[in-house]
Amino acid sequence: MGTAGKTITCQAAIAWEKNSISIEEVQVEPPKAGEVRIKMVSSGICGSDDHVLKGELPMNFPLIPGHEGAGIVETVGDGVSSVKPGDKVLTLIVPQCRECDACLHSKGNFCDKQDVLPCSGTMLDGTCRFSCKGQKVYHSFRTSTFTEYTVVPEIAVVKIDDAAPMDKVCLIGCGVPTGYGAAVNSAKVTPGSTCVVFGLGGVGSAVVLGCKASGASRIIGVDINEKKFPWARALGVTDCLNPKKLKKPVHEVVMEMTGVGADFAFEVIGHTETMLAAWNSCNYSYGVCLIIGLAPLDSQLCLEASKIVSGKTLKGVCLGDYKTRDCIPQLVTDYLQNKINIDPLITHQLPFDKLHKALELYHTGKTVRCVLLF
Ligand code: APR
Ligand code: ZN
Repeated sequence: MGTAGKTITCQAAIAWEKNSISIEEVQVEPPKAGEVRIKMVSSGICGSDDHVLKGELPMNFPLIPGHEGAGIVETVGDGVSSVKPGDKVLTLIVPQCRECDACLHSKGNFCDKQDVLPCSGTMLDGTCRFSCKGQKVYHSFRTSTFTEYTVVPEIAVVKIDDAAPMDKVCLIGCGVPTGYGAAVNSAKVTPGSTCVVFGLGGVGSAVVLGCKASGASRIIGVDINEKKFPWARALGVTDCLNPKKLKKPVHEVVMEMTGVGADFAFEVIGHTETMLAAWNSCNYSYGVCLIIGLAPLDSQLCLEASKIVSGKTLKGVCLGDYKTRDCIPQLVTDYLQNKINIDPLITHQLPFDKLHKALELYHTGKTVRCVLLF
C-alpha cells in the first residue's frame, strides 16, 4: 500500500480550545506497535463530543474530536492481530484490553485503558500521532474520528461484517450500544413495563428502541426540545413531557401519570438535576434508575438517603455494559439481519466539509443523530 509507513496529510477538524473548531490540514503518523491507522468513512456527532467541545471534560487542546466512527483499516502497527488492512471497523470509546480487572471480571466493561475518566488525550504510550502546522494535536477518547485518517489502539477497534453499510453503522460504535444496550442488556426491561427516558437525542432514542424491543407497554419521553417529540413517538414513545411547560416538577408528573412510579428510568442527558428527576420518577420499591449521561467532571449527585432503603436501584451504565470488542460486532450483524433498526436514529447525513452546518444542526436541536461522511 502506497501510504504504509508514511505520514499522511489529510483534512481533520481541530478544536483549538473550547468552542473553537476548524477544518485544517493535519499530519497523521503511521501506527506504532499495537495501533491501527484507519481511513474514516463516517462519524456520528454524539453528546459526548459536545461535552468535549464545550470544555466540560478536562481534556488537552488542541484536539481532534469524535469517537463514534466507522472506517477501513489502512495499515496496522507491529503485533496487531485482530484487524488487517482493508477490514471494516468501528472505533470504540471504551476499549477492551482483556487484561485489566474490569475486562477480566464477568460483569465489568469499563476497561482501565479507556481515556474518558480521566482524559489524557494521548495514545497508550503517552504520545500523539497528529500534528498541525508543526504543533502537536491531542486525541479525544483515543479515537478522534472527525478526520479523514486516525490512529487508534488495537484494543479500541473492532472488525465488523463486510456487508455493513458504512454510512450508518458508525452509530453502533457508541450511541446504539450505549442506549439500546442500557435497556435490553443492563436494565433488562421487562414486557409490559413502564419506562421513562430523560433526553431524546441520539442515545436516548436508542434507549427508546431498546425499551420498545423489550416489550415495554408505556414509554414516557422527557425533553425540553419539543422538536424531538415526533421522532420519539415514531420510535415508540407513548407520552411526551416538556419539563419547561409543566406546572410541577417532572418527577411528580411521572408519579401522577403512573400512579406508582416507573419500573425503569433512564437519564440520557448528563445533568445532575435530570439524574435526580429520573431517580425520583422510579417506583420506590422495585424501580431501577440508570444513569447514562456523562455529567461534568467534579459535579456531585445528592440523594435523599432515607429513601434508598425502600429498595429501588441506582445504576451507572456505560456502553450498555457490553464488553465492547466481544459484543459490538454482533449488534452490527443484528442490524444486518433486521433485528435492530438503527435507520430512524439517523436524521441527517452531511459531507465532512459541512462540519459547521452539522454542528449548527446539532446545537439548534434539529437532529437526532447527524452523521458526517468522509
Ligand atoms: N431536560 C430534558 N431534556 C434535556 C435537558 C433537560 N434539562 N437538557 C438537554 N436535554 C435534551 C436535549 O434537548 C437533547 O434532545 O437531551 C438531549 C440530549 O441529546 P444529544 O445532545 O443528542 O446527546 P446524546 O448523544 O443523546 O448523548 C446524551 O448520553 O452518552 C451520554 O455523553 C452523552 O451525556 C451525553 C448523553
Ligand atoms: Zn458517544
